[in-house]
Amino acid sequence: MSSVTQTITGTRHGPDYKPHKPLRQCIGSAAAGETCGRYLHEWVAERAGADEGEERAVSTGESAGGREMPRDDMTSLIQKIARQAGLTFRGPGSSGDGKGFAENVTQLRKLVSEIRAEDLKIRPRKSAQAPISVPHNPPVTYMHICETDGFSMGVFLLKGGSSIPLHDHPGMHGMLKVLYGKVRISGFDKMEAQPGGSHGALVRAVLRSTADYSDSSPPCLLSPLRDNLHQISAVDGPAAFLDILAPPYDPDDGRDCHYYKLAPSPSASSPEQSGDGGAEASGVREVWLLEIPQPDDFWCGGEPYPGPKVSA
Ligand SMILES: [Fe+2]
Repeated sequence: MSSVTQTITGTRHGPDYKPHKPLRQCIGSAAAGETCGRYLHEWVAERAGADEGEERAVSTGESAGGREMPRDDMTSLIQKIARQAGLTFRGPGSSGDGKGFAENVTQLRKLVSEIRAEDLKIRPRKSAQAPISVPHNPPVTYMHICETDGFSMGVFLLKGGSSIPLHDHPGMHGMLKVLYGKVRISGFDKMEAQPGGSHGALVRAVLRSTADYSDSSPPCLLSPLRDNLHQISAVDGPAAFLDILAPPYDPDDGRDCHYYKLAPSPSASSPEQSGDGGAEASGVREVWLLEIPQPDDFWCGGEPYPGPKVSA
């Protein structure tokens, strides 16, 4: 879509600009994720396998990991989400596999659907914020909530007009729920495995969807093969979303975060043909992507998570 192209190729800061944290570093060793609800069944079917006998949780505040916690923390919705995420994504090599996965995903999605900013003691930010500046006022910040070998969870906060550039989540699942404001999410699938799916440094992809999400929207999902690349932009002011990734980013285990921009088609022979990669101008949803360094106009800061304590 044109809005995607405009953001991805947007202007950069000047030469005095300092390097910034990659997205994965925003979240400890993890990063952002999502997918559109309409793909839930495909997403579940892709990973479900057998569907019997596995432990399933409709957590109601049991102690987590045997640690004593205040009752309000034990029963908090975010604690229930963490516990359910832990059951759904059990660690490297088992994330998303095994019996009962579909049911666990459904339960996790149901719990995530209910989360609100006030549950995490997060106040929606005002539209009039201090201007983005290096290094003290980044366009995006991250509140780390918890991380295990199986999943990471936190909150991304986007200032008005900011975007998380197009990036991937290699071999990972993700679930995203808007807490306040509105975000526009464009999701892509790589087509590398298909004939002609790559051309030198270019990778062929399909723009699966572009849609706006608010706090009343259902969670978005991503999987290793569906909507695994996305760009997330704040629309009409600041926005924030809860983000669950499984397993977490880990460059040492092949799950590094890569950034992309739309590129002209390698077969384009005229400026008219090379336009924006063909996503919308030609009405064709197939595009070419070029891996790029982290864009200079994006970096992610950190800030304390103010919500209920979570034991994962
Ligand atoms: Fe992401």
